[in-house]
Amino acid sequence: MYLTRTEERMISGEYGEVISKAMKAVVKVGEVLGADRLIQVTHAHVSGVSYFNIGDPGLEFIEDMAGKGARFAVFTTVNPYAIIGSAYGKEFPHDVVSKQLRIVNALKKMGANSFTCAPYYIRKPKVNEHLAWAESNAVLYANSIAGARTNREGGPLALFEALIGRTYYAGVHKDDGRIPKIYVSVKKPKNFLDASLLGYITGEYSPKEIPYVSGLNGVEEEKLRSFLAVFGARSSAPMVVIEGVTPEYSELLEKADFMDRLVIDEDDVRKLIRDEALYGRGVFIIGCPHLSLKEIMDIAGMVLRRCNTRSDGKELWLITGTNVVLPDELESKLERVGVKVLKGMCPVVTRLDMLDLNYVITDSGKALFYLPRLAKVRVMIMDRKDIIRKFCGGAT
Ligand code: F3S
Repeated sequence: MYLTRTEERMISGEYGEVISKAMKAVVKVGEVLGADRLIQVTHAHVSGVSYFNIGDPGLEFIEDMAGKGARFAVFTTVNPYAIIGSAYGKEFPHDVVSKQLRIVNALKKMGANSFTCAPYYIRKPKVNEHLAWAESNAVLYANSIAGARTNREGGPLALFEALIGRTYYAGVHKDDGRIPKIYVSVKKPKNFLDASLLGYITGEYSPKEIPYVSGLNGVEEEKLRSFLAVFGARSSAPMVVIEGVTPEYSELLEKADFMDRLVIDEDDVRKLIRDEALYGRGVFIIGCPHLSLKEIMDIAGMVLRRCNTRSDGKELWLITGTNVVLPDELESKLERVGVKVLKGMCPVVTRLDMLDLNYVITDSGKALFYLPRLAKVRVMIMDRKDIIRKFCGGAT
């Protein structure tokens, strides 16, 4: 791979041991993927920071780098970490909470700006801007909605890229890496549930290749996020070319030579909805991917219109980034009716069973896919409005 003189000095150790190690890792991956050079990035997004996932070795690795003076070279955001709050009064052991906080503090020391899986709400990427992002929903948003360019990096690689401010020039950074291979036609989703389920099926139809999707033009961005988040759970593709949404969709359509054409109809979507037998203790969760302030305000308005006080102990968690600031008093008003606003956390990377929870009711297709596998709870998926109705005691 061609390296500039500065990059040669970085790799040889002139900028310290951590930078040299980071450069070697990024160059190695780039060479395997056929890159002939590195490119500078403007924003890195790191994932894989839950203590439940990375344990003591991950904690020591991150603390060691922070202790050696490693600092992010570009604007860097970080994925949410494990929930360290409580559910129905049950809490995680002190040891787990304190180790999770040590990971967060080491990342802050290196320059982490915010903990969220919606880094596009912190700093919206521009068309054709090069990024080094981990976290599939964020990568899919960046490429498919913003028209920026980022491969789907692994957590440690994105950390190294944040330290060197560079990534390898391959994949969707290049024009020919963005050409869709499968044509999928969908019916406009009516609500969040439809959007999630369409993403689920599209991901199943296109497990590796970038699809071109028609039928989503005019759908609100929040629903497109739900679609993309679950698509990313089912497919390893870093991008969906969305007709009428992806800035370069018409150029990409012209270049495409589709290997398959598929139609997703309402029957396909309805087949995925099934009643789970729910027993034991459960929690309602909205915010996978993280909610914007506007979404929280909309949900808060709906909940406060329907719920007065709460005596049955039910909890609804609204999950968002650490940067989101709610109007005064709103959080305490919501707490009184059982709604907790959790910032910087992710239910999927949290062992919810350790809080004695048995099930989750959510509107997120991504959570539907991952929660049983990683958080060890059962999941029922519902539309957002039905969740609020059920939480407030009405029929769905
Ligand atoms: Fe975000 Fe965790 Fe869902 S990272 S997209 S809340 S799985």
